[in-house]
Amino acid sequence: MTDAALLDRIAAAPDLRELEALRVAALGKSGSVTALLKSLGSMDAATRAVEAPKVHALREAVTEALTSRKSALESAQLEGRLATEMLDLSLPAPETPRGTIHPVSQVMDELAEIFADLGFTVAEGPEIETQWYNFTALNMPENHPARAMQDTFYLEPHDGESEPRVLRTHTSPVQIRAGESHGAPIRVIAPGRVYRSDSDATHTPMFHQVEGLVIDKAITLGHLKWTLETFLKAFFERDDVVLRMRPSYFPFTEPSAEVDVGWSLEKGRRVVGGQEGWMEVLGSGMVHPKVIANIGLDPDEWQGFAFGCGIDRLAMLKYGMDDLRAFFDGDIRWLKHYGFRALDVPTLSGGVGA
Ligand code: DAH
Repeated sequence: MTDAALLDRIAAAPDLRELEALRVAALGKSGSVTALLKSLGSMDAATRAVEAPKVHALREAVTEALTSRKSALESAQLEGRLATEMLDLSLPAPETPRGTIHPVSQVMDELAEIFADLGFTVAEGPEIETQWYNFTALNMPENHPARAMQDTFYLEPHDGESEPRVLRTHTSPVQIRAGESHGAPIRVIAPGRVYRSDSDATHTPMFHQVEGLVIDKAITLGHLKWTLETFLKAFFERDDVVLRMRPSYFPFTEPSAEVDVGWSLEKGRRVVGGQEGWMEVLGSGMVHPKVIANIGLDPDEWQGFAFGCGIDRLAMLKYGMDDLRAFFDGDIRWLKHYGFRALDVPTLSGGVGA
């Protein structure tokens, strides 16, 4: 075979197996090019000087031709595979169990988002609380009838403690704790679990509240009302939310007010907005001077307002559940229906209702 014929056959090799056979025939141990290389040794110097460059050039040319044909064949092979092999991504994947965000968690996130926009941070306190924080510091001294307003769970006394601790009956003790650790001025909300020995269609022994506390100079009831109005409008995503403040009594606020929101009937369901009727949504008031003093601040210098609100009820009003007990049953069907997708993070820009 002439050199040119060899190179032509390499260039035209139909597949990798044939190409390999051509390589062995030319460059293998007993290949034709190998034989030429070997023959150089037995040549006289003058002949070798003429022949050696030709043989080396031939070996080079053959090697190059093999390499380029090989890569051409390989890429053709790959193209072929890509064209025929396929994965149908539209096929339904097997259903994997997916959890949801509980409406209570969702509402807590919504509250944090709304109040963050008003300059509030989120504060926390323990669920096992001392009587000082849960009652006494909030102007509910021992034997004060107000303590009987809440059906308290008392715990076994800790070693060396004179008074048993309690499961906190409200989030109000966080007012004292946050006030002590932040000092004034302060703007916080404190969402969390609270406990009362009470159980019927509308009460569960554990439920959720959010506390709000603002202490600053020259704080008035006007600030309280504006803040609650702004919060409830943002939360219910309606501009026609109307508030009504009724005089009331809480030991830790003076004056105290219960706040009702107006509701109206839409498709037979009571929704927040309008004023066909009123329902109570929270308790509030101006922080009692004794509470300000118990935080360690001078009540002549600092004033504030506070409010406390049931989170479960807010969730029911916004998302339309009618049985509080279902919140705590852990029924997967209920959670699927009322729960939120993990990526439905509430933002003011995207709508806090997600
Ligand atoms: N702690 C009260 C309760 O659980 C709610 C409450 C009322 C909180 C008035 C407040 C407030 O901060 O000012 O019933």
